[in-house]
Amino acid sequence: MCGIFAYKGKRNATKTVFEGLKKLEYRGYDSWGMAFKKQGKIQTIKKVGKIAEFNKKIPENADYAIGHTRWATHGKVNEKNAHPQLSNNKKIAVIHNGIIDNYMKIKNILMGKGYNFKSQTDTEVIPNLIQENMKKSSFREAVKKSLKTMEGSFAIVAISQDSNEIIAAKKMSPLVLGINDNESFVSSDVAAFLSYTDKAIIMDDNEMAVIDEDIEIINLKENKKITKKAKSIGMNYEEAEKGGFKHFLIKEISEQEESIMRAINQDREFIENISKQIDNAFGVFFVSCGTSYHACLSASYLFSKIVKKHVNVVLASEFINYKHFLTENTLVIAVSQSGETADVLDAVRTAREKNSRIISIVNVPGSSLTRISDEVIPMNAGQEVSVLSTKSYTSQLAILTLIAYACAGKYEKGLGLIRKSAYYIKKIISNDRKKIKSLAKKLKDKRDIFIIGRGLAFPSALEAALKIKEVSYIHAEGLAGGELKHGTLALIEEGVPVIVISTSDSEANIENNANEIKSRGGFMIGFNSHESNIYDYFIKIPSLENMEPLITIVPIQLLSYYLALYRKCDPDKPRNLAKSVTVR
Ligand code: AGP
Ligand code: GLU
Repeated sequence: MCGIFAYKGKRNATKTVFEGLKKLEYRGYDSWGMAFKKQGKIQTIKKVGKIAEFNKKIPENADYAIGHTRWATHGKVNEKNAHPQLSNNKKIAVIHNGIIDNYMKIKNILMGKGYNFKSQTDTEVIPNLIQENMKKSSFREAVKKSLKTMEGSFAIVAISQDSNEIIAAKKMSPLVLGINDNESFVSSDVAAFLSYTDKAIIMDDNEMAVIDEDIEIINLKENKKITKKAKSIGMNYEEAEKGGFKHFLIKEISEQEESIMRAINQDREFIENISKQIDNAFGVFFVSCGTSYHACLSASYLFSKIVKKHVNVVLASEFINYKHFLTENTLVIAVSQSGETADVLDAVRTAREKNSRIISIVNVPGSSLTRISDEVIPMNAGQEVSVLSTKSYTSQLAILTLIAYACAGKYEKGLGLIRKSAYYIKKIISNDRKKIKSLAKKLKDKRDIFIIGRGLAFPSALEAALKIKEVSYIHAEGLAGGELKHGTLALIEEGVPVIVISTSDSEANIENNANEIKSRGGFMIGFNSHESNIYDYFIKIPSLENMEPLITIVPIQLLSYYLALYRKCDPDKPRNLAKSVTVR
């Protein structure tokens, strides 16, 4: 995830922001920039690439400065699209994390009023909207008014040539204020200013902070000033990196709208070229482990449905057994969050020996897998710290789904559907959280949880079981609905919880399975689009063509998190497991 850092106070502002941005680097970014006010004028620096590669002198003696590390969601990675974005009159600079959902609508209105847009970002509407609103009001009132118009999830910081204030506001993206004698910090997480002060104000959604000599906080919904006391964080460095969340797991689950948008922000030609290679290959093998394997299994159903193309899905640790089928015309697609999983690296080496072509989908840039692949598709999920793969799973699925649509010559359609899923995911996280927490409370003392699904919902059932068991240590088993009567039904008795995942094309058959369980006393939990009286507990999942795997897993990730909390398990570091499995 991208980062925000701003400073006003007694120190060298530009240098402090530069150092702050470096501390936010772990979140992942593709470009960076800063704006500062010096001798009454707003000036900017914007660069693509690593902050450490910047070898010029940063201007000094600025009154204050704001800085940003960007993880592009709208528009390519280049200096024009890097933040800060400026207003047409160059008097207002804005940095922004997140996505402005209705930016096209705002852009069209502003273009109608004669504004030009120089970047492809959604962000650029913000400084221009503020400029427009400043025709009739002060900087702070103009920002307030602009915030009312903007929909989506964001954290923003704005400065204006005509004011001495730094204004920061947030909705659904993290933003923290650091407080010290005669100096203030704004940051995406506490870690970045912890070396200066451990006193912080964690901003809540729909709050705006006006930073001048003092800090004023305004509740935007009620349009009134509120008092929030700075608190000592009492955090160690690692905790601080959680940006206000209690655990990395919940932070990473909550980031998925943005990480999915980043995952599909790929170069279209590049993805279409990959789809051609899939088309032309004599045998395609998806190779991966654990959660990444479940993403691949989902993809095999999607390739069958969308492209009518057969692809093989093989667990990396079993891949050696398939080596006899490999030729130089085989295409191996290795999928790995860490890019360091030993089994995956072994599988790829086996394929290399047969001169097969290797494409990998990887989250960690520069990891071993990226170095032994012919081509690499970056997942862009940002750093995933919790041992549980959550946002990397949805990023993998989003990319694989996009490739399937590209193979079918329907790139735009795929893109549109995935974007819509990201939006639904955001809604589920904010609207269903309480209901999922209550479900976790009901399930916390159970010995087993079964999860069934058919078709596209089958790989989701496997992934759901993995999520639940690895973090709560409750035995969880995912299986295809059709397999129940071949054995597992013997374990169903009064009160045994069974989660039923269904997709629109598997509804009828899975309901038969659900009835079989219900008549044996199972506690039925539905995660699907149609409520029915079979279910004792129901979580509604929006129905969206071929997108159910992407959407359904998110409430189950949340369920796993709450199960871990109720059972007093560490959500970030399950026993016996490691983030990257570098052993065989
Ligand atoms: C899932 O939550 C686990 N972290 C695990 O199954 C993981 O997906 C597997 O070890 C593969 O890791 P990779 O994607 O880094 O290769
Ligand atoms: N949506 C904005 C962009 O693409 C902000 C991305 C970010 O959060 O860094 O520029």
